Amino acid sequence: MIIPKKISIANIPTPIEEIKFDGKPFLIKRDDLTGVELSGNKVRKLEYLIYQAKKEKSDYIFTTGGDQSNHARATVIAAAKYGMKSKLFLWGKDSGNADGNLFIDKFLGAEISFLSKNSFENVNQIMFEERAKLTKQSKKVFVIPEGGSTTLGIWGYINFIEELKTQIEIKKLQGIFAASGSGGTAAGLLVGTALLNLNLKIFAVNVLYSKEKIKKRIIDLAEGCVLDYKLPCKIREDNLEIVDGYSTEGYKNINDNKLTLIKRFASESGIILDPAYTGKAFVGYYENILKRDKGKKILFLHTGGIFGVFGKRRKYLSID
Ligand SMILES: Cc1ncc(COP(=O)(O)O)c(C=O)c1O
Repeated sequence: MIIPKKISIANIPTPIEEIKFDGKPFLIKRDDLTGVELSGNKVRKLEYLIYQAKKEKSDYIFTTGGDQSNHARATVIAAAKYGMKSKLFLWGKDSGNADGNLFIDKFLGAEISFLSKNSFENVNQIMFEERAKLTKQSKKVFVIPEGGSTTLGIWGYINFIEELKTQIEIKKLQGIFAASGSGGTAAGLLVGTALLNLNLKIFAVNVLYSKEKIKKRIIDLAEGCVLDYKLPCKIREDNLEIVDGYSTEGYKNINDNKLTLIKRFASESGIILDPAYTGKAFVGYYENILKRDKGKKILFLHTGGIFGVFGKRRKYLSID
């Protein structure tokens, strides 16, 4: 078994809080508190990816995502901390009035290439071509694919399970419920539970890809990690459940009913969820877990996204 090395940039362990919503108690793990500028789930993955980039003496980090990508923002911050430049390949349009994550990317001086939806389909190829140009100028580039979801990056969530074990009686827990975008978080959780031989169900709310596509991505990543790192475990597909139907309005949009619930949750708990990921996941959690009084058996993982709130502020303010 090979265990990769990492740097230490996340404020971990993150707390687990037991709170009530609509009178129902539940457990929430606050991975939105992994940092301030570096908040959210991506930081755990970046601990491994940035270690590797530094080891390879990289001058540049390239990565990709939507124009409000939390992963891209966290990468820009982490690269700056470690003296590397960053270039982002973002799906969306430039804005002289950049908000949220995009504002921070620009504030830190990241180079940004904006791609149309069509070109974004070939983003990995575009990043590798750009890398080739810089290599000719003797610059080293470390490319991080969407969401930092590689077999190395997902170690952040393999370790998460070890962390959880030190915080609660994990055998009493039946599942972990979280948003799933590129699939790395869920894949890491699956590998982590398999390694410790735990019978925990991973509930993944697909916010970006179809049920079939995200399932395949998560399983491929988890199995790829087992192979790459020679891990003594087998991935159990039946421990993964995709909770579909909570992103029907599309990745970048959210309907008023969901926003109303997110707003009410914020005003009653002091915890802010974002519109693209954790807000949708929480609606799924509320309907499937909380309403059935299973909140103490199935933990809600808050994966961050605070800066995504600002881009939707007009919509947030327009509803009750
Ligand atoms: C706030 C937030 N939550 C959840 C996710 C999904 O994580 P993953 O891409 O590992 O599935 C993301 C990533 O895109 C995110 O930014």
